[in-house]
Amino acid sequence: MHVKQIFELGLKRGMEADPRGKKVIARNLARQQKEYDDLKPSHKKYFDLDRLTNPYPDCAIHVDNGKTAVRRVLAGIDISAAEILLASQLNERGQTIDLVISHHPVGKALVNLHQVMELTADVYEQEGIPIHVAEKIMEERRKEVGRGVHPLNQFQVIDMAKILGINFISTHTITDNMVDKFIRDMLYTVKPEQVQDIIDMLLTIPEYDTANHFGSGPRIVSGSPHHRIGKFMVEMTGGTNPSSKVYQELSQYGFSTIVGMHMKDESLTKAEKHYMNVIIAGHMSSDSLGMNLFLDELEKQGIEVIPCGGLIRISRNTQKSTDSADSRSVGKKKGGK
Ligand SMILES: [Fe+2]
Repeated sequence: MHVKQIFELGLKRGMEADPRGKKVIARNLARQQKEYDDLKPSHKKYFDLDRLTNPYPDCAIHVDNGKTAVRRVLAGIDISAAEILLASQLNERGQTIDLVISHHPVGKALVNLHQVMELTADVYEQEGIPIHVAEKIMEERRKEVGRGVHPLNQFQVIDMAKILGINFISTHTITDNMVDKFIRDMLYTVKPEQVQDIIDMLLTIPEYDTANHFGSGPRIVSGSPHHRIGKFMVEMTGGTNPSSKVYQELSQYGFSTIVGMHMKDESLTKAEKHYMNVIIAGHMSSDSLGMNLFLDELEKQGIEVIPCGGLIRISRNTQKSTDSADSRSVGKKKGGK
């Protein structure tokens, strides 16, 4: 597979797992097209044409020489200049890295992180929260995130990859959608009754089990282990944490339990104030699960995956969980070429 094909496979899988469903994605893409069509000719040059086909502004191809048939990828939750240099070092040692994949966005994918947060407003609407409430709450938070990423040095890592000739992509919401769906489906199948049952369920997933060995496993941060779950919401996609204001609304509109990756203290205070149960599954472990579901697809195509940058690599192709030491052992071959 070539870099573009890998990225397009990611978009396909991300859309299949998207909690909004395909119709809403298609509607949003059509809006992008209209926005582009309505632009004055002098403004069209500033419009990123990727927006017409890629519904995830926090996912992008950063460097692609257009030629490489990818046989081995270096994949991490966070890719910094150090990991790009690592790819180059491995290349020099004969372990050719054809592509580096980061989960967390860099470059324009980081600049546009806040744009993907429209996903959350769509999900809230589908779950019965009036759209005027959902949009207003999320709009404030989107602006806050947009202000936060605006001054950052977004392209530093990409510059390094360009100089060293390393192909590089980011798959943020693509794989967050995949973990979100995985956890939702599991909750619908397992049907846990009490909050502790969710913790027990999560610990059957190797990524969370591994994290638990290091003290960063799933935990109850609000509510009691014996509280009933009631109606739940999985908060694992949508760019980043929603506004803290949403927990009052979620509680009011019948939600009792949140299962998320991470939560700001301000949000936790609000969720507690409104009597919600909150289970934090874990950040790196949840991001790893989403990435692993995608990387398994690449492995099936004969591509070798080398984990780095905080990725707890578990291959579901081999039906084997590796402990975290194994998952971080650079050069360990897990099938494929
Ligand atoms: Fe993350």
